[in-house]
Amino acid sequence: METFTIEGGKPLSGTLRIQGAKNAALPILAAAVMAEGQFHIYDVPHLKDIEVMLQILTALGAKATHTDGCVWLDTTSISIGHVPDDLMGQMRSSIFLMGPLLARLGEVTISRPGGCLIGERRIDLHLSGLTAFGAKMEEADGYISFRTKQLKGTNIFLSFPSVGATENIMMAAALAKGTTRICNAAREPEISDLANFLNAMGAKIRGAGTDTIEITGVQRLRPVSYRVIPDRIVAGTHILAVGAAQGHIELTNTIPEHLTALIEVARSCGVEIKTYHDIMEVKSTSRPRAIDRIITSPFPGFPTDLQAQLMTFLALARGTSVIKETVFEARFRHVNELARMGASIYVDLGSAFIRGVSRFNSATVEASDLRAGAALVIAGIAAEGTTVVEQIHHIDRGYDRLERQFEQLGATITRTIQ
Ligand code: UD1
Repeated sequence: METFTIEGGKPLSGTLRIQGAKNAALPILAAAVMAEGQFHIYDVPHLKDIEVMLQILTALGAKATHTDGCVWLDTTSISIGHVPDDLMGQMRSSIFLMGPLLARLGEVTISRPGGCLIGERRIDLHLSGLTAFGAKMEEADGYISFRTKQLKGTNIFLSFPSVGATENIMMAAALAKGTTRICNAAREPEISDLANFLNAMGAKIRGAGTDTIEITGVQRLRPVSYRVIPDRIVAGTHILAVGAAQGHIELTNTIPEHLTALIEVARSCGVEIKTYHDIMEVKSTSRPRAIDRIITSPFPGFPTDLQAQLMTFLALARGTSVIKETVFEARFRHVNELARMGASIYVDLGSAFIRGVSRFNSATVEASDLRAGAALVIAGIAAEGTTVVEQIHHIDRGYDRLERQFEQLGATITRTIQ
C-alpha cells in the first residue's frame, strides 16, 4: 500500500509546468488505432490509466514505448479486435477502443468496463451510437460485440452530452461512409483536442467544441506527431490548493479559457488570478469567501472533476456555501474524510451544504476515488500538522506524481511504499 504523508500549514510558492491532459491523451491513443504506422504523441502524462491503455494496444498487436512524456506507437500490426478482460476491467477508458477497432477491423469485443466508483456509469449512449452506424451488436455472458462490413454515416442525437460517447462516435464516424452529425454533443476541450488530432490524421471533422459536430468519413487515416493539451483539472487542483492553503504560485503550460468557470468562482471567493498567454499567476493571502451555490454541469459549466477539490477550498471559507452535483451521483465520498479533518459538511439530495471552518486538523484519511484523493491532499496541505492520505493509487490514475508537483510548490509531502 502506498500513502502520502503531508506536513501542512505552509503557504505554497513557486512555478509548476502543468502535465498533459489525461482525458485528452486516452482517446487520442485509442484513435491512433485507426491508422497504420508510427505515431509520436507528446505531453502524455505518466499515469496508471495511460499504462493500461498502452498495455491494451500492445495486446492488440501494436508496439509502444512511453519515455519522458512521449509515446511512440506503431499500429501497423494491429489485428486483434478483442480487448483483454483483465485490462478492460482496470479502466473505463478502454471503452474508447470500441469505435476505433470497429472502424479499422470491422469487429470488436469488450467486456463491460471498470473505472472509478463515483456512481453508476452507463454506456448505453456509446452502444446506441455505434448501432446507429449500422453495426450489429450482440451482448452475452458479460461481453459486448459489434460487427460491420462498412460503417455508414448517420445523424445521432445524444440525450445527454456524454464526453466519452461523443468521442467514440466521432472516431467511428471518421472512417464511416458518408456524413455523420452528432447533436447535443459534449463541448469539453478534450473533444476539440481529439478532433484536431483526427483532422491532422486526415479526418474531416467540423464543429468540435460546439453542440453539433459534423464528420465526413474518409477512406484512410495516416499516422502523425501530435502534442496533447494541458490538463485543466490538474491546473484547477493547484489553483484551489493555493486558495485553501494560501500562497503565490505560477502555473505554466495552461489554457486559461479551459478554466473560465473555475477562475470565475475562485476570483469571487477572493483568489487573485492573472493570466498571460499560457501562464497563470495565482495568489491568495486570506481565508476564502463562501459562495452561494455552484452546480456542476457539462463544459463550459463547472467541471464535476473539480467538485471535490472545490469542496476542500470552500470548507475553509468564511460563511456557508452550497455545491450541487448533477453529472455523477455518489460523488461525495470525500465528505466523510473531510469531516474527519474538521470540515462541517451536510449532504442532502445531491447537494452539499458547507459551513466554513477556520482551520482543519490533521488526520489519517482515505482516498476513495481520483478527485476525492486530490481534495484530501489539498486539505492536508492546508492543515496544521501531519496528514496521512491512504489508497493513493486512485490519485496516480490522474496526477503524474502529485507529490512532486506539490513539492515543487514548496509543500512537504512524501510517498511511502509499505
Ligand atoms: C469523462 C471524463 C471524466 C469526467 C466526465 C464528466 C474521460 C476519460 N473521463 O468521463 O473525468 O468526470 O467525462 O465530465 O474523459 N452517461 C450515460 N450513458 C452513457 C454515457 C454516460 O448515461 O452511455 C452518463 C454517466 O452515467 C454520467 C454522465 O453521463 O452520469 C457523464 O458521463 P460522461 O460525460 O460520459 O463521462 P465519461 O466520458 O465517462
